Amino acid sequence: MASPPPLQLQCGVKLVFLSEEQKKGSEDGSGHGSLQLSSSLSPNILVLHFHNGKEEAVMTLTDEYSTFHNALKRCRNHNTEHNTVSPYTKEPSELQYTQFYGCLSQQQNMLQDYIRTTTYHRAILQNHIDFNDKVVLDVGCGSGILSFFAVQAGARKVYAVESSPIAKYTEKLVISNNLSDKISVLCGKIEEVFLPEYVDVIISEPMGYMLFNERMVESYLYSKKWLKPNGMMFPAFSDIHLAPFSDEQLYMEHYSRANFWYQQCFYGVNLTSLRSAAVDEYFRQPIVDTFDMRILMARAVKYTVNFIDGKEEDLHRMEIPFVFHMVQSGLVHGLAIWFDVAFVGSLVTVWLSTAPTEPLTHWYQVRCLLQTPLFAKEGETLSGKVLLQANNRQSYDIQIMASVDQSGFKSGNILDLRNSFFRYA
Ligand SMILES: C[S@@+](CC[C@H](N)C(=O)[O-])C[C@H]1O[C@@H](n2cnc3c(N)ncnc32)[C@H](O)[C@@H]1O
Repeated sequence: MASPPPLQLQCGVKLVFLSEEQKKGSEDGSGHGSLQLSSSLSPNILVLHFHNGKEEAVMTLTDEYSTFHNALKRCRNHNTEHNTVSPYTKEPSELQYTQFYGCLSQQQNMLQDYIRTTTYHRAILQNHIDFNDKVVLDVGCGSGILSFFAVQAGARKVYAVESSPIAKYTEKLVISNNLSDKISVLCGKIEEVFLPEYVDVIISEPMGYMLFNERMVESYLYSKKWLKPNGMMFPAFSDIHLAPFSDEQLYMEHYSRANFWYQQCFYGVNLTSLRSAAVDEYFRQPIVDTFDMRILMARAVKYTVNFIDGKEEDLHRMEIPFVFHMVQSGLVHGLAIWFDVAFVGSLVTVWLSTAPTEPLTHWYQVRCLLQTPLFAKEGETLSGKVLLQANNRQSYDIQIMASVDQSGFKSGNILDLRNSFFRYA
């Protein structure tokens, strides 16, 4: 296992990362240091403990502190990647996630979502007074596009934090655009990197399908530990919208897919014993696509997530109650879900909407089927709740309970947002 290259700090300290064998050899008082961070101290103070365990030195650093700290974090990751147990060991889903965002093609997909990228551009540039001469944190900067927008709006300094390997390309873009003095790319998770100062504004695009998929909104809320009191968040809040829909074709399509398992003689094998398991599996998949809004049978119900006041823990379990007043009679096949985010600036409020009535984005809309359709008449009410439970696959289990109040008919479903069915193609 190769050690990472030494880190030379301008203040004259050279930090050498040692392997276990080298460490043993250095316990002769040769002066090699290991770092201990003291969170109770100011962000730019660090304590160095030397290997002989007796000596320590307190150092004050400015900008270099974050370079030092973040390099150390990388070193720890580097050393522990080869061990079996480590607090830095990534879950398989997290590794997959990091690799996914490490691809330029994936960053390109997001950049080419015209509605998404122009809305962020507009929200930042039209609120330039919120950025002018300000210190900004870009959480999950990806290609760095939002950091560039912040600089265009006059930001004095941007800390662009990115956990995936795309960060090396972001750094390249920053250098080739001559913005190294303004944008510092910090490679690591926002939960682990260290910033040399608090920030005036946090910008991020943490939205997954149905807003919550990927669980990045939690990282966005976590990042507020770096926000100055009364600092701003772009976006500031999100509204999730839910509405009942009727779509016989979609419902039948799901059944037809499972009907493959209805065959009694597939190359001589009877598959029918697995048919009901196949139906269950298909119905657990939320459907990602778009639809004509005329399939909606009632006005949508809204649930707001406030990024300024909200805490990460608030997102671990969310209960969204609903009462829909039916505006047409028919079979309710499920609930359609979409979200908007709002950029509340000092000059204008800009909305980015993924509603079925708005131009399509790469988030599409999400539909969750009920296991059994519910008949409801115009004027009746459909009530119940949606329970969102975060899981360790960076996503959510979705539980729906619904009943028509007048007839007493009930239905529901449990779905797995991580395993969505992409129907739009
Ligand atoms: C939806 S993309 C947005 C990228 C870029 N901000 C943009 O608007 O094009 C989210 C990015 O955040 C990164 N990310 C996700 N969770 C993160 C975390 N906890 N810390 C740092 N970066 C994270 C991902 O690797 C990905 O590149």
